[in-house]
Amino acid sequence: MTRKILVTSALPYANGAIHLGHLVEYIQTDIWTRFQKLRGHECWHVCADDTHGTPIMLRAEAEGITPEQLIERVHAEHSRDFAGFHVAFDNYYTTHSDETRHYSEDIFGKLRAAGLIEVRAIEQYYDPVKRMFLPDRFIKGECPKCGTPDQYGDACESCGAAYAPTDLKNPYSAVSGAPPVLKSSDHFFFKLSDPRCQAFLRQWTQQEERLQPEAANKLQEWLGAPGENKLTDWDISRDAPYFGFEIPDESGKGTGKYFYVWLDAPIGYMGSFRNFCTKKGLDFDEFWGKGSKTELYHFIGKDILYFHALFWPAELEHAGYRTPTKVFAHGFLTVDGAKMSKSRGTFISAESYLAQGLNPEWLRYYFAAKLNGTMEDIDL
Ligand code: MSP
Ligand code: ZN
Repeated sequence: MTRKILVTSALPYANGAIHLGHLVEYIQTDIWTRFQKLRGHECWHVCADDTHGTPIMLRAEAEGITPEQLIERVHAEHSRDFAGFHVAFDNYYTTHSDETRHYSEDIFGKLRAAGLIEVRAIEQYYDPVKRMFLPDRFIKGECPKCGTPDQYGDACESCGAAYAPTDLKNPYSAVSGAPPVLKSSDHFFFKLSDPRCQAFLRQWTQQEERLQPEAANKLQEWLGAPGENKLTDWDISRDAPYFGFEIPDESGKGTGKYFYVWLDAPIGYMGSFRNFCTKKGLDFDEFWGKGSKTELYHFIGKDILYFHALFWPAELEHAGYRTPTKVFAHGFLTVDGAKMSKSRGTFISAESYLAQGLNPEWLRYYFAAKLNGTMEDIDL
């Protein structure tokens, strides 16, 4: 029997170059989809650039171009790098598209109608000079635990402590250098703590073959013991200025708030496939409709399991779409046991590998030989 299979790789951010670490995933997915195609199945591999968010907005500003110009240039660079390593996507699109906007509004609207969206005010650090709310990574200061200066708002690179940005001593904005002030604003939350989400996720993650055993264990830890309610609501909005899609109100007018990049990023899988369906004359609903008989697989790195195994299936389920057949998570490519790093000189971009005249097949073979079904790291 011919199977119908839709496969995705995670969408790389549009503000950085593709490096050898990324390629673990795109080469793994490419090998898997080529194999299914060779077996005679109908198998499609779609991906896209993940184009929204504060870092992309600020990066474009620093380069003196618009975010649209930045993401267009990076799209060409990413496409060139993937082609250089023979990664044969059926469609490589962008999340900054009409299709992704359409499904973002559609899913948000359905979640709101289901009573799973709540508005409440939260207090956050605000840059009074730049006039914008600051994501954790754009607030720096002294580590509250060990006192090391110039640490990010989420964790200390010196002692490893994790904390909230408000715990930092002498905080300053990494954008303007000004001390941030606390300011309140309304945010939209997806009610993951709702009993319906809890019940669905417990049942979904327990189904055989949905997740690798280590991933299923992680999920158990996040969900807590039966009867325990460990999931908290998820903040899915951001204030202007933000590069992304504006959130519409019930009558379709703008709210002045934007979808957080992680809300529309996985929806970019649907957007890319929708775009492909239009070009190919395929039936989108056959693949994404509730009760679909087709298979849907997401290949991801272990760092983004939370988004793909909790938020994403819960969103799809309650917006009336099919949920993933399985999520495959891989480990990280490290160099000498540590994260690739520009300062240590161990960062290798896809472009620089090819520029050395190295054969892309060598890297493909190396990853193919090293990869397995676990989330173990690969040490280069
Ligand atoms: N934009 C998000 C994904 C959104 S998916 C709806 C993102 N982008 S990323 O560019 O940071 O990473 C893209 C993929 O590459 C992720 O699955 C990530 O785990 C993977 N990798 C990034 N660095 C990696 C290594 N060093 N090693 C292996 N995989 C790595 O996350
Ligand atoms: Zn510290």
